[in-house]
Amino acid sequence: MKDAAPKTIYLKDYTPFGFTVEEVHLTFDLAPGATRVKSRIRFAPRGGADDRRFFLHGEDLTLIRAAIDGKEVQPTLTAEGLTCDVPDAAFTWEAEVEIDPAGNTALEGLYMSNGMYCTQCEAEGFRKITYYPDRPDVMSTFTVRINGDLPVMLSNGNPVQQGEGWAEWHDPWPKPAYLFALVAGDLVAHSDSFTTCSGKEVDLNLWVRPGDEGKCAWGMEALKKSMRWDEEVYGREYDLEVFNIVAVDDFNMGAMENKGLNIFNSSAVLASPETATDANFERIEAIIAHEYFHNWTGNRITCRDWFQLCLKEGLTVFRDAQFTADMRSEPVKRISDVIDLRARQFPEDNGPLAHPVRPESFQEINNFYTATVYEKGAEVIGMLKRLVGDAAYAEALDLYFARHDGEACTIEDWLRVFEDVTGRDLGQFKRWYSQAGTPRLKVEEDWQDGTYTLTFTQTTPPSAASPEPQPQVIPINLGLLGPNGDEVKETETLEMTEARQAFTFTGLSAKPVPSILRGFSAPVILDRDSSTAERAFLLAHDTDPFNRWEAGGALARATLNAMALEDAAPDAAYLDGMLAVLRDDTLDPAYRALMLALPGQSELAAMQAEAGHTPDPRAIWTACETLRQALAQHAQDTLPRIWETCRIDAPYRPDAEQSGKRALAGAVLSLITRLDGGALAASQYGSADNMTLQVSALSCLLKAGKGQAETAAFYAQWQQDRLVIDKWFMLQVLQAAPETAAATAKTLTEHADFNWKNPNRFRAVLGALTGNHAGFHAADGAGYALLADWLIRLDPVNPQTTARMCAAFQTWRRYDARRQGLIRAQLDRIAAQPGLSRDTTEMITRIQGN
Ligand code: BES
Ligand code: ZN
Repeated sequence: MKDAAPKTIYLKDYTPFGFTVEEVHLTFDLAPGATRVKSRIRFAPRGGADDRRFFLHGEDLTLIRAAIDGKEVQPTLTAEGLTCDVPDAAFTWEAEVEIDPAGNTALEGLYMSNGMYCTQCEAEGFRKITYYPDRPDVMSTFTVRINGDLPVMLSNGNPVQQGEGWAEWHDPWPKPAYLFALVAGDLVAHSDSFTTCSGKEVDLNLWVRPGDEGKCAWGMEALKKSMRWDEEVYGREYDLEVFNIVAVDDFNMGAMENKGLNIFNSSAVLASPETATDANFERIEAIIAHEYFHNWTGNRITCRDWFQLCLKEGLTVFRDAQFTADMRSEPVKRISDVIDLRARQFPEDNGPLAHPVRPESFQEINNFYTATVYEKGAEVIGMLKRLVGDAAYAEALDLYFARHDGEACTIEDWLRVFEDVTGRDLGQFKRWYSQAGTPRLKVEEDWQDGTYTLTFTQTTPPSAASPEPQPQVIPINLGLLGPNGDEVKETETLEMTEARQAFTFTGLSAKPVPSILRGFSAPVILDRDSSTAERAFLLAHDTDPFNRWEAGGALARATLNAMALEDAAPDAAYLDGMLAVLRDDTLDPAYRALMLALPGQSELAAMQAEAGHTPDPRAIWTACETLRQALAQHAQDTLPRIWETCRIDAPYRPDAEQSGKRALAGAVLSLITRLDGGALAASQYGSADNMTLQVSALSCLLKAGKGQAETAAFYAQWQQDRLVIDKWFMLQVLQAAPETAAATAKTLTEHADFNWKNPNRFRAVLGALTGNHAGFHAADGAGYALLADWLIRLDPVNPQTTARMCAAFQTWRRYDARRQGLIRAQLDRIAAQPGLSRDTTEMITRIQGN
């Protein structure tokens, strides 16, 4: 149902619902084109409520009948729901509606994927299943009966009973409707069990389509590790008899934390060594953990309204990052997260889509599942932990769980537990939740008579969301190194609260080299004019692994910018520094692999724009190519030896140790391919017995403009495996040269297997195009036009996925007038589509800046 005039919802307008829901009974009579949903819901007037209007959300529903206390009623229907006169006391509401799962291509509400029924209700999808107060602060227990002829029929909570053609489920934990789930299909289980810390036995099932049984073991291991970790680190025990996970092929997001019945995009859970890469395995481990952790941070304690989304998402991302750091390597996880933050959140925070971690208004909530809410939201929690210390953090979390279990909460509730535990006033800290934009942190240093002073200045660029930004609390982790590389001052957290603030250090015998913002202790842009020599020194000596990596990145950025803007030659200090890192076998291979990667090309463009230049995507691409070639030549004699040290003789395992070695081998292979014309990559491809090796070899070959035979062979080998074929589509676009990327993508959209209604497949091609910076921004505008064509086509079918992908245009103001004109023309063309969804309309309008 399209809105004529989009409505804006404001945080300040929050009012509680006038009724409580005591219990919900649902009966589903499944049929693909005409499923009947009967609801029986016990409502009671809420004490103290002044708004007693009885409004239930409902969209795309056909109402068959409605009754109150058994007597039929005639509610007033609108496109958004219904209103009805109700008694002044508790009453039972009954309704029967008809819905069309088979016709539901938006993948929100109850829909079908490969003959299987499944649901996605967050944020506001339950209203497409039946009439209900579809808001997170209305919590109730649910009993669900499913009638249908499918072998497996699941819902939330514990199984009550089942028979031929029916199954009944009961979830004893009150929950908001967005956590409701139903799955029915021809599924098989990979089963296991877990004994909780108090000795309760939980049945664990991972439900998949027949044929996918062999891809379940890793997800199950990840689930058990997550359950144990949450007990040990956060003291959180699981609370039902069964935990079900279902893999579905058509899913807008990665996965969803429905109570006791998580639903996963199959790409986020299914893996075998032959079909999934190390990166896939790591992502699966993290997503399983994330959704599992929501059981406490999200489900037991939920959000009062969708403005508080970061309450559950920021915290759960923070928790899953801690988990991954514990399972694998802390510095490697931290560096990967910062790479991701800079690639996805910084552009958002510094462009037309900027919004606070807790937004104050929205039109379509689905557009606010953003890197800012998630990743910056997690960073804010990291800062809070840094400021109060580990012990107080643990105490505050215990208090949070004890005080708010079973409630729908706000950021105020969250901060109050920290204030109560520490006695601190978090008033200024709260600006991290209310203010948009990335703070810039400028540093000046002074050295006089043994006294060393660092003066910091913070400024946040104003945005539409935050026109007058105020100084924020910035925890700055600082260490000082002596001239010989020894640490003369261990890491200390400086607490910056003023716009400009100095910190003084005495008792030093020589001018130190500062290591600032260790571990990336705050999500800011550090603006420091340091010399190449100082960066090279930190790259060689910093004891903080994050800042050591950062020093390498700073050298890379400096030389790439000089190469792209001034035609400079590759910097010898960068090449020497990288060679030293590459050769240093005491360093974790995974860490060395990260070191060898260049900064993202889009990030370089952002930096150039910030420095007042107009970035040229083609020139940035050329600079990166030239630098990689120079590094390959510089490291020529070392590469084969490193390659040898990465050899693995043991059977494949996707753990940190093996995947680190394969990552370094992959980085080395990409350099060797620049020297040997692809011989080693071709031979690796030929003998690869796992997907990580297959993909790294094929990537190198495609990058070198070769690999036609391998590309064909890959397709022939894997054409029956959707997840692998997604990779096949993606790699060809990602590795294409700037001039051919759009054409390659276009050709692939004409391939018989380009099933564009499947979000994974759509993203594999169009998402990869936007990830190929120089290709997407090719001067002729072909990349822009192709993306816009497909967004226009997808919007009526799947508004959520369309709207998310509009973000590729958010950086348009960085580029030259010609490119700006080309992008604006595409934005205008999309905006002019009749019947454009509310999701896409909001995104385009915000990007246009109207
Ligand atoms: N609750 C979300 C899933 C979701 C997002 C539902 C948006 C509806 C709209 C889930 O917990 C989540 O955050 N999933 C992430 C993965 C996670 C590891 C950050 C996702 O799906 O990308
Ligand atoms: Zn989440």
